[in-house]
Amino acid sequence: MNFTTKTAVVTGGASGIGFALAQELLREGANVVIADVEQAALDRAIAELDDYRGKVLGVRTDVSDFADVQNLAHETVAHFGAVHILCNNAGVETGGSFSAIADEAWRWVMDVNFFGVLNGCRVFLPLLEQHEQAHIVNTASVAAFASGTATMTPYCASKMAVLGLSESLDIELRGRNSPVSVSVLAPGPVKTRMTEAERNRPVDVPAAEEDERKAAIATLARITEERGLDPRDVGRQVIEAIQDRRFFILTHPEIALTGVRTRLNWMETGVAPAPRVAGT
Ligand SMILES: NC(=O)c1ccc[n+]([C@@H]2O[C@H](COP(=O)([O-])OP(=O)(O)OC[C@H]3O[C@@H](n4cnc5c(N)ncnc54)[C@H](O)[C@@H]3O)[C@@H](O)[C@H]2O)c1
Repeated sequence: MNFTTKTAVVTGGASGIGFALAQELLREGANVVIADVEQAALDRAIAELDDYRGKVLGVRTDVSDFADVQNLAHETVAHFGAVHILCNNAGVETGGSFSAIADEAWRWVMDVNFFGVLNGCRVFLPLLEQHEQAHIVNTASVAAFASGTATMTPYCASKMAVLGLSESLDIELRGRNSPVSVSVLAPGPVKTRMTEAERNRPVDVPAAEEDERKAAIATLARITEERGLDPRDVGRQVIEAIQDRRFFILTHPEIALTGVRTRLNWMETGVAPAPRVAGT
């Protein structure tokens, strides 16, 4: 794909992986629309990309709101004339031990992580299919392959839903020779603000304050600090996968594959896995 004639939308693009991906797409010559729910972070991101003035646009968007995503598509086409690449990257995380997780917490995680991706696919697919070649990148996680991380059950469920949606969509689109191909990005630990995701929690979502939960997040933050990838490396991997029209983007293939093998072993032998440590 020649990025210089393309327009890309990156949700959750004001921070972390989304911001790095926006930078890589701009370096490749694409126009980029950064969509994010956090207005101040969005303003900072756009200011930081001042070298690309005219090539980058910020649109405040809550991906869990279908009308907001429709507005994002409208603004993108109004500004750049078309859209060729959609990166459904926005994501959040909260949790706890199962019986301590509030209904509102479940809904927030599913609304952003799953319905945000679904909203993007539903709104943008007809626009993407107008071109000879277009691409969707849906961000899941290694949690889509490996379950059982303490206190992260909603996150795991939401990311498995993203995987199921993405696999089925890609198979359907290939089956009818659609010009749109799909990738699923499944990162392991990456140095971003993900462990502070609750900064964006709606007012009705209670803070996750159990000791077990705090310990899990502290471990994840430590492992991410020690061994996490630089988000720019993830951005590069995504660019290459779009060029190759490759479905799986595995930043930590050993974690994803171990998760799949563990499930297969569980299915074949009936021996259930032990709880996982966050970030491994
Ligand atoms: N960092 C990791 O280790 C890791 C691992 C696996 C998967 N992921 C996934 O990568 C994606 C990017 O996260 P990140 O690690 O860069 O974290 P991050 O917190 O740095 O960035 C996430 C961005 O999403 C935005 N956002 C949150 N809710 C939103 C909403 N409703 N609408 C629009 N934007 C919203 C945030 O404001 C933020 O800018 C997420 O889907 C996350 O689940 C991250």
